[in-house]
Amino acid sequence: MYNSANYAKNIELLLTDYELFRSKYFSNKCLEFLNKSFSEASLFLTHSATGGLEMIATLIDIQQGDEIIMPSFTFVSTANAFVAKGAIPVFLDIDPITLNIDEKLIEQSITKKTKAVIAMHYAGHPCNIDTIKTICDRYKIYMIEDAAMAFGATYKGLPLGSYGDFSVISFDITKQINAVQGGVLIVNNNRFADRANNVYHLGTNRIAFNQKSVQYYEWVDVGSKYQMNELNAAVLFEQLRESDKLLKHRQQITQHYYNRLLPLKKSGKISMMHEHYVAHNFHEFYILLNTPNERTSLQSYLRNHKVESMFHYIPLHLSSFGMKNGKYIGGEYSEIIAKNILRLPLHHEITEVDVNFIIGLIFKFFNEN
Ligand SMILES: Cc1ncc(COP(=O)(O)O)c(C=O)c1O
Repeated sequence: MYNSANYAKNIELLLTDYELFRSKYFSNKCLEFLNKSFSEASLFLTHSATGGLEMIATLIDIQQGDEIIMPSFTFVSTANAFVAKGAIPVFLDIDPITLNIDEKLIEQSITKKTKAVIAMHYAGHPCNIDTIKTICDRYKIYMIEDAAMAFGATYKGLPLGSYGDFSVISFDITKQINAVQGGVLIVNNNRFADRANNVYHLGTNRIAFNQKSVQYYEWVDVGSKYQMNELNAAVLFEQLRESDKLLKHRQQITQHYYNRLLPLKKSGKISMMHEHYVAHNFHEFYILLNTPNERTSLQSYLRNHKVESMFHYIPLHLSSFGMKNGKYIGGEYSEIIAKNILRLPLHHEITEVDVNFIIGLIFKFFNEN
């Protein structure tokens, strides 16, 4: 995690000045920063992207039996928020090149019960938003962006998160810019802005009260304590301030990995992200091996040389809960990708020299120089 000398100063400030805490000093500074990118939206800093997704499930009024279309190759939070309110997740296969939801499967998956499509931008690489939005508009269903991994990434000049009726970005410690734990809910559909305020404030009309449009505040809706802890906001603010520098570093490391690994891609030993994502890749750097055995062997080879590499996800339609509670439409790409993907180290401290060492190991593994 990026370390700033200002974290301690900010936290000290908060702990010694209750008024700053109460007035959400750092949350407001974060919002000011984020508003520059999402000026048309209502923004809510949350304790997690998971919390933001739960707010969305409340706002679109999920009822028992409603269906939500989403990729199978995603994190459980994408599904949980909706399933908790009785929705059935309709898992679609992914496109094997982008690893995002296969938009060609969406239209055939829509039924009278479909309430929303979730465009999850895998690794922060944009889904085919234009196509998904056109389908959602045609069937009058909501488009939700799960941009948990996508801070800093854009589509057609606008940040990811700008297109859905609702979107979330994660500021978890595993993400490129983080609050240790946190997220932001972006409400682009203005029809929901007032209600979102109430849901966010434990189901009370606290904001109307603050704005003096009501005499006292009371319980008006269901809600919860979705707000980001101010101590987390104090960390997030420092990272947002440094975000250009932090993202640039990750992009440069991505470019370096990509250039150095190209010979292995060309000789068919591995696959990598499409070249046009490289300039906008901030969250993770993955390669795809040709077989699960090769993935396991390379991972242990790297581990033996003290290099940690990771993989995810068990496709949700194959997980024990997902199998019982969801539907699946599509082929086998989610499963194949899940078995062959390997995520190489990408963090703010890694240098090109470290990457050269890792690449050297990978070439040795394949007996190539
Ligand atoms: C695709 C996706 N959605 C949602 C989440 C949940 O984010 P958070 O940890 O901020 O709740 C994650 C977290 O990794 C994620 O990868």
